[in-house]
Amino acid sequence: MPEDSVDTPCLVTCTAPVNIAVIKYWGKRDEDLILPINSSLSVTLHQDQLKTTTTVAISRTFQADRLWLNGKEEDINHPRLQSCLREIRRLARKRRNDGDTRPTDSAGLSQKVHICSVNNFPTAAGLASSAAGFACLVHTLAQAFGVEGELSGIARQGSGSACRSMCGGFVQWIMGKQEDGKDSVAQQVEPESHWPELRILVLVASAERKLIGSTSGMQTSVQTSSLLKHRAEAVVPRRMVDMIQAVRRRDFPAFAELTMKDSNQFHATCLDTYPPIFYLNSVSQQIMHLVHRYNKYYGETRVAYSFDAGPNAVIFTLQQFVPEFVQLVQHFFPPDRNRDDFIKGLPVKCAALPVELKQSIGLEPVPKGINYIISTKAGPGPRVVEDPSQHLLSAEGLPKKMV
Ligand code: DP6
Repeated sequence: MPEDSVDTPCLVTCTAPVNIAVIKYWGKRDEDLILPINSSLSVTLHQDQLKTTTTVAISRTFQADRLWLNGKEEDINHPRLQSCLREIRRLARKRRNDGDTRPTDSAGLSQKVHICSVNNFPTAAGLASSAAGFACLVHTLAQAFGVEGELSGIARQGSGSACRSMCGGFVQWIMGKQEDGKDSVAQQVEPESHWPELRILVLVASAERKLIGSTSGMQTSVQTSSLLKHRAEAVVPRRMVDMIQAVRRRDFPAFAELTMKDSNQFHATCLDTYPPIFYLNSVSQQIMHLVHRYNKYYGETRVAYSFDAGPNAVIFTLQQFVPEFVQLVQHFFPPDRNRDDFIKGLPVKCAALPVELKQSIGLEPVPKGINYIISTKAGPGPRVVEDPSQHLLSAEGLPKKMV
């Protein structure tokens, strides 16, 4: 932590990524520690397109811990947030007791924190905002309190999927066996540089808040779905092994097939939940048809879909297939905006669509079915922002601007 004078807060700003699970986490065996009933695996998305930015300020002049999310002051007493804060302070204390020679309060232990966080994408639109949010919170707090080492177990206590956003590239969350959750941590399988041709397209179907949050949805699933029990015990362990192998070998057809089957099984467990949970809508179904018919037309698996607890589709494909597939999406979901507004993120070249391809897809176009596409790729884990002008809090520790 940088040295600070008596009145000036110590400020640290970091960014953290969103991740999309290709083997899904759904169900907890411990609600407080957030321990899952199965392991999961995700791809960390590039922060150039999707990220959370968080500034933490520590000062002895602050009266209380405070939090601002996307421009609005929120309750700092949220139990999961308190878990993360408590764990970071505990590690900072341990570090000091273990012989850190810095001045007593340079670890800021008796001081209050101000936290300010913003997303550059819609919150709660099914875009894993809690994963990026808690990963960023934990990474930034750790920097501010001078804590190092394994931190995914702390991010996990904010939101299960957040532990995977603590690493870049391809990441597994090992479910662990211990009751205290110490072995339930995220690990990088391969870095983002491992598979440079892999592309990810987020098809934003709806920017509205989801009806049933993941936390309560998975609780009901654990209580009522026998399919979920079978999935966790018999299906996922094998799939984890196969998925890690597909990633390591950069075997796109194997990766794609496992991804789609796992997304489908997750949504099947939602339907098997009683009362049932529906996250997919008619546009999501159209996209699934589109993907399967596209792959069938070429006689190979070129594109895969995955859906989380919301109707947005996440498409995985290889760079060479992006222009044609995006054109196809644009054809079957004609937007009311121009192409530049429709496609955000990494540039996508125009492509001509063979007439036979359009015919063989054979779907009725759904105007405005997709709001916009975010084109991205795998990216790195949390980062410290060195430029002080990027701090979200002023030198007084208050939000610089309300967004
Ligand atoms: C469908 O991590 O949001 O996105 O641990 O209760 O905060 P909590 O749930 P959360 O669940 C994510 C569920 C999912 C699948 C996944 O990301 O693995």
